[in-house]
Amino acid sequence: MAEQPSGLMDKLVALCKRRGFIFQSSEIYGGIGGFWDYGPLGVSLKRNIKAAWWQDMVVKRDDMVGLDCSIIMNPKVWEASGHVVNFNDPLVDCRKCRARFRADQVFQVYVRDGENVLLSVGVEAGEQDAAREAASAGANSKTRRRLKQHADKLQWEISRADQMPTDQTAKCPSCGGDLTDARKFNMMFKTYVGAMEDSSAQAYLRPETAQGIFCNYKSVLDTSRLKLPFGIAQIGKAFRNEINPRNYTFRSREFEQMEIEFFCQPDQAEKWYQFWRKARFEWYVGLGLSSDKLSLRDHETAELAHYSKATADIEYSFPFGLSELEGVANRTDFDLSEHQKHSGKDLTYYDDETKERFLPYVIEPSGGVDRATLAFLCEAYCEDEAPDEHGNPQKRTVMKLHPRLAPVKVAVFPLVKKDGMPEIADKIHKSLQAAGLASFYDEKGAVGRRYRRQDEAGTPLCVTVDGQTLEDQTVTVRDRDSLVQQRVAVDQVVPYVTDKVS
Ligand code: GAP
Repeated sequence: MAEQPSGLMDKLVALCKRRGFIFQSSEIYGGIGGFWDYGPLGVSLKRNIKAAWWQDMVVKRDDMVGLDCSIIMNPKVWEASGHVVNFNDPLVDCRKCRARFRADQVFQVYVRDGENVLLSVGVEAGEQDAAREAASAGANSKTRRRLKQHADKLQWEISRADQMPTDQTAKCPSCGGDLTDARKFNMMFKTYVGAMEDSSAQAYLRPETAQGIFCNYKSVLDTSRLKLPFGIAQIGKAFRNEINPRNYTFRSREFEQMEIEFFCQPDQAEKWYQFWRKARFEWYVGLGLSSDKLSLRDHETAELAHYSKATADIEYSFPFGLSELEGVANRTDFDLSEHQKHSGKDLTYYDDETKERFLPYVIEPSGGVDRATLAFLCEAYCEDEAPDEHGNPQKRTVMKLHPRLAPVKVAVFPLVKKDGMPEIADKIHKSLQAAGLASFYDEKGAVGRRYRRQDEAGTPLCVTVDGQTLEDQTVTVRDRDSLVQQRVAVDQVVPYVTDKVS
């Protein structure tokens, strides 16, 4: 596994802003929590991720079709799906500073020396170790000394805010004030359709793209000649009013999902569940995520969503910890049976071989485009050395993105702005563009600096027109990762680059 540079997250966030991958939404007005914009490089990266998914999951499969549904649907959809009742997070407020937290992410840490409570502090953390560290950091220097000296005989207790005994309460991680009791908070964004702003006009921004697929499943079946098993795939925006958006784009309030609902015979569901767990894991590896930073984690029964019989999360080791990239769930016939019940429409499938009618089971691989983008960015970030134009090693930051995902596939430079080099370089650049390759032309500044800029953008190849080009019609092609420079005939540049980046 490649070593991640220290302070990776801060460095990555800075690079993404500096180079135009990701910006804070409405930044000129101070931003807005949980919303992000993708700049010129970011939007291309994200489009390439979605295109790779569509290509591999839809275009290359005979058993998959695509769909694009509206974001706002009849509100009855969300009653049937269970989201109106079940799509809640436990919320606590600080009575003193008014800070708001998800109760399942606030912990009260007690450190006891026998009967004596040395320290009791509220921390916001996902795991015990982080809570311990935060607790020690929050203590005054005398307590910290005692914690250290008596470390081996102290007892640590950690309680989640929403699971504490009734006579105890967790304290605010920000100011130590009292927290309110946990209450349910529905995460769906509400809006009104039409001119009346009353409850009859209330609708929701979809919190998942999946329900659009379930609602259209019968229309897709009736208008195509699909037979079980088959899948319907969709990429689109989803919205969740997250209590605590965090970790950069990882938990946002507006994000994109890439979802497949794969319909199959009930007795084949386990087989397809296993198939999709493996297929989706391998998809990420194929695009450059290191398999030792990825893992498949099965949900405990208590953790399962209201619709799921079994779920496995594909987790990635982000700099802020191992976290969910995608979920693969066996949704059984829960959704189709609920929609059938609430809509009164027959959603059964007729099997003309067995002459039976039944509701298919559904296996759902559901990934986040923004989380995939963040994982590919984290994986790609690398600091190493490359020789400058005089052959001296220089530190560089390089984004080692998979060529399929790289926003710019190739950059073309004239070594100097004279002797006809810019004209030849521009012609090569135009021929690359005409072949459908994202090419970038740059003639400004020292060539070493131009290479560095492309390294930071993740451009796999740089083509340089130099003195030798004028003599033998060849150019240098520099490989971003190996730094090997090869001479290629000018008229072979397009096939050479196409072969390397496809
Ligand atoms: N249809 C099933 C479903 O929506 P989920 O686990 O809630 O399941 C699926 O979401 C994926 O959507 C997650 O694995 C994640 O990649 C992405 N996702 C969910 N909430 C997100 C958020 N607040 N910000 C960014 N991505 C999110």
